[in-house]
Amino acid sequence: MSQHMNEDVDMPVGSDGVFTVELVKSGQRLQVPADQTVLQVLEAAGVDVPMSCGQGICGTCLTRVVGGVPDHRDMYLSGEEQDANDQFTPCCSRSKTAVLMLDI
Ligand code: FES
Repeated sequence: MSQHMNEDVDMPVGSDGVFTVELVKSGQRLQVPADQTVLQVLEAAGVDVPMSCGQGICGTCLTRVVGGVPDHRDMYLSGEEQDANDQFTPCCSRSKTAVLMLDI
């Protein structure tokens, strides 16, 4: 029986900075290397997320988070919005947990 991986949403990301995004609607799991953004990984997998500035300023890429804890690196969300951990900007933000579950 395959192991249920979603417990990884409680595990901190490793020192290598690599984490997994799980797309809950399609069930896809994609690995995000330290030198790529979530958005780049999504695009490479053919997942279309609208984006504009690529720098965490405009909010165009804002994506709902349903599990795990984002590592917010944007300047778009307010501190309170960031602390809610229910959305993040995949063009620049990363993950504090080994798995980040996205509502796409
Ligand atoms: S594309 Fe502008 S915040 Fe991500």
